[in-house]
Amino acid sequence: MSQNDCLHIDSTNVLPFVDRERIDEKAELARAVARQLERREGPGSDFLGWLDLPVAANGPELSRMEDLAEQAGQDSDVVVVIGIGGSYLGAEAALSALCDLTSGPEILFAGTHLSSPALSRMLRRVEGRDIRLVVISKSGTTLEPAAAFRLFRDLMVRRYGRENAARRITAVTDASRGALRSMSDEEGYETFVIPDDVGGRFSVLTPVGLLPLAIAGLDVRALLGGAAAMRERCAGADLWENPAHLYAAARSALYDEGYWVEVLSSFHADVGPLQEWWKQLFGESEGKEERGIFPASCRFTTDLHSLGQYLQDGRRELFETFLMVDGGQPDLVVPLDAAEPGGVDLDRDGLAYLVGRSLDDINTKAFEGTRNAHTDGGVPNLTITVPTLDERVIGSLFYFFEKAVAISGRMLGVNPFDQPGVEAYKKEMFRLLGKPGA
Ligand code: PA5
Repeated sequence: MSQNDCLHIDSTNVLPFVDRERIDEKAELARAVARQLERREGPGSDFLGWLDLPVAANGPELSRMEDLAEQAGQDSDVVVVIGIGGSYLGAEAALSALCDLTSGPEILFAGTHLSSPALSRMLRRVEGRDIRLVVISKSGTTLEPAAAFRLFRDLMVRRYGRENAARRITAVTDASRGALRSMSDEEGYETFVIPDDVGGRFSVLTPVGLLPLAIAGLDVRALLGGAAAMRERCAGADLWENPAHLYAAARSALYDEGYWVEVLSSFHADVGPLQEWWKQLFGESEGKEERGIFPASCRFTTDLHSLGQYLQDGRRELFETFLMVDGGQPDLVVPLDAAEPGGVDLDRDGLAYLVGRSLDDINTKAFEGTRNAHTDGGVPNLTITVPTLDERVIGSLFYFFEKAVAISGRMLGVNPFDQPGVEAYKKEMFRLLGKPGA
C-alpha cells in the first residue's frame, strides 16, 4: 500500500474503558468472521460480491462509463442523478469529499425525498440548461426516485423529444428485473448493471457510484486502486495492522460494555455526506433483531455549539469515532486586523495571538481539545486518520468501512446484508396511497 493510502486507527482512548484482553478476544472473533466471509459462508453469503469489486469493477464496463462521462462533458451543463439510499449516498459522499478535484457538468441529486418545494426548485434550476439524467435503482420500483424520474423525464421529453431525450438518459439497474429495466429496454436507454450479489449500501464501487463520479471528472481507476489496496490490507491477520479487524473488535468490545451509540465526528466540512453514507451502511447492516450500535454523526466544530453539551455531559452510553484528514488541503492563515495591508495589528477581536497561524492548525487544536475533553468526560473514542482526500483515499475508506461492518454485523449475530425493517413503512405507505395489490 502506498503512503497515500495509509489509513491509521488510534484506539488509545478505548483502553481506559475496555480491557486490552477483551479487545484481543474480540480480535480472534473478528479474524474468524473475516475468514468465514472470505470463504463466502454465513448469513447473507449471496450478497458478498462487494468483496471483490475493487478488482472486478475494473473491466470493459469501466471504459464505457468513462466514454459516457466524456460525452456528458461535451453535451451537458448539468447531470441529474436520481436515486435514494444506497443508490446515491456513496456518490454524494465521494463528490463532496473530492469537490476540489471535480470538473465537467454540475451534478445534482434528485429522488432522495418526497418534498415538493425542493424538487420544484431543482426542476427550475435546470431550466434552459442542457441536461442528462442518470437514474439509479436496483429494484427499479422505489417510489422516491421513480416519482422524480417521471418529473424529469417529462421535462426532457418536452425539451428534446422522446428519441433525443432517451439518448440523454442512462439507467443503472438490475440486469433483468424491475420496472426501470423494462422501461430502459423499451425506450433504448443506455444501461449499466448492478450485480445481483451486491446490496444497495455496498454498491458504491459498482456503476451506482462509479458512473456519477466519472461524469464529475474524478479518477475512478484511482478510487478502485485505493479500494484494492485496502482489500489487501484488510486480509491481513495482525489486528493492529488490519484496520477493519481493529475497528470491528473495538466496537464490539464497547457494545458489550453498554456503549450502544457511536458518533462519527469530523472536523472536515466536506466529509458530511461521507458520514451520511456511513450511517446508512452501519445502521442498515447492524440495526436488527433489537440489536445494534446506533450510528450518529457530528460535524465539528459546528456541532460543538449544539450537541457538544450532550456529548460532554449527557448519558454515558455513547462512544465516538473521529474521522480526521491529516493535511494536504488548501489552507488559510489568520491575517492581521490592520487598517492597511502590513500595518499594525489593531486586535479589535482579540485574535492577535493567532495571527499567522493556519486555520488547519487551529482546527487540529480544536480536535485535540475536543478529544481530550470527551475522553475525560467518559466518552471512549477511536480516531481514524487519513493523510489527505483524494480518489485513492476515498476508495480505501469505502472498502475499509464495508469490510468492518460486515465483520462487525456478523460478530453481533445478525445478517449484515439484509434490511427487512425498511419494508414495514413502505407497506403501510403503499396501503395508504392505494397502490394496487398493497
Ligand atoms: O441499502 C439499500 O438496500 C437501500 O438503501 C436501497 O439502496 C434504497 O432503498 C434504494 O433502493 P433501489 O436501488 O432498489 O431503488
